[in-house]
Amino acid sequence: MLDTVLVLGSGTMGRGIAQVAATTGLTAILHDASAAQLKGAVAEIEKSVAKLAEKGKLTAEQASGLKSHLVVCESLDAVEWKRVDVVIEAIIENFDAKTELYRQILPRFRPDTILASNTSSISITKLAAATDRPARFIGMHFFNPVPLMALVELIRGLATDDVTCETIEGLARRMGKTPLRCNDMPGFVSNRVLMPMINEAAYALMEGVATEKNIDEIMKLGCNFPMGPLTLADFIGIDVCVNILEVMHRDLGDPKFRPCPLLRKMVDAGRLGRKSGRGFYEYGGKA
Ligand SMILES: NC(=O)c1ccc[n+]([C@@H]2O[C@H](COP(=O)([O-])OP(=O)(O)OC[C@H]3O[C@@H](n4cnc5c(N)ncnc54)[C@H](O)[C@@H]3O)[C@@H](O)[C@H]2O)c1
Repeated sequence: MLDTVLVLGSGTMGRGIAQVAATTGLTAILHDASAAQLKGAVAEIEKSVAKLAEKGKLTAEQASGLKSHLVVCESLDAVEWKRVDVVIEAIIENFDAKTELYRQILPRFRPDTILASNTSSISITKLAAATDRPARFIGMHFFNPVPLMALVELIRGLATDDVTCETIEGLARRMGKTPLRCNDMPGFVSNRVLMPMINEAAYALMEGVATEKNIDEIMKLGCNFPMGPLTLADFIGIDVCVNILEVMHRDLGDPKFRPCPLLRKMVDAGRLGRKSGRGFYEYGGKA
């Protein structure tokens, strides 16, 4: 029975993944290359768990279990490697950074340890090929904010074996998530379908079809979406959207994925969405 997961990276995604693992009875070891990030992550996890308990979304037992189930490791040397059943990698979206980290940690793995990456756009097959265990490598794509979003896209690389798929499916379920399988193609399913819509909404704005607000309201009321595509792009980050579109454009070779020039211009201007205080909309605070 799976007991311990090691989460690498304590940014937006890693902290959420560790939080959910620790409050669903797993032992979650959380590591980050930056001690400051790790400290911030722990404070945010504690705050989030308290809030969810207050709202009745976590039981008192789950909330109080956090302390004994969350283990913070500033150094990879401090990790009890023989306990680790699954490693979930959630560091920055960069192929070289990810594979360099794999190179450092793989010699410490048990032979049966599974390595799962939370990458949103890098090929699982290509990442797997840079490891000593392509059969035990898989994409485990969580959604932001992890404690609230039900979906985990499970991405099977060319060499991923059935046991790995089933084990990670079981892990996702145990974490209260709904795992859905797909094969390894650029953008997987979620971004392949979503990003062209965001891109087209940016083209519609650029070509003066309607205002930001009206594009969003039309899609909300007409398609029953909880938020419009431009609002969603601001949440995701305009730079992240451009990055994912570029990967799909390059790897699928189809011009329909070419990032809208307006999105590129916004990145150049530093209008990255909520995180920079301005994207399609203004959020105040940060410049
Ligand atoms: N943000 C999202 O909405 C989202 C959604 C799904 C998937 N993802 C994917 O999840 C991964 C993480 O994204 P994020 O938004 O949490 O990024 P982030 O920038 O918030 O966090 C990345 C963390 O990785 C740490 N890090 C960098 N190099 C490291 C190393 N060698 N060892 C240990 N820690 C290291 C950084 O210090 C940072 O804390 C990416 O692959 C991203 O594509 C992101």
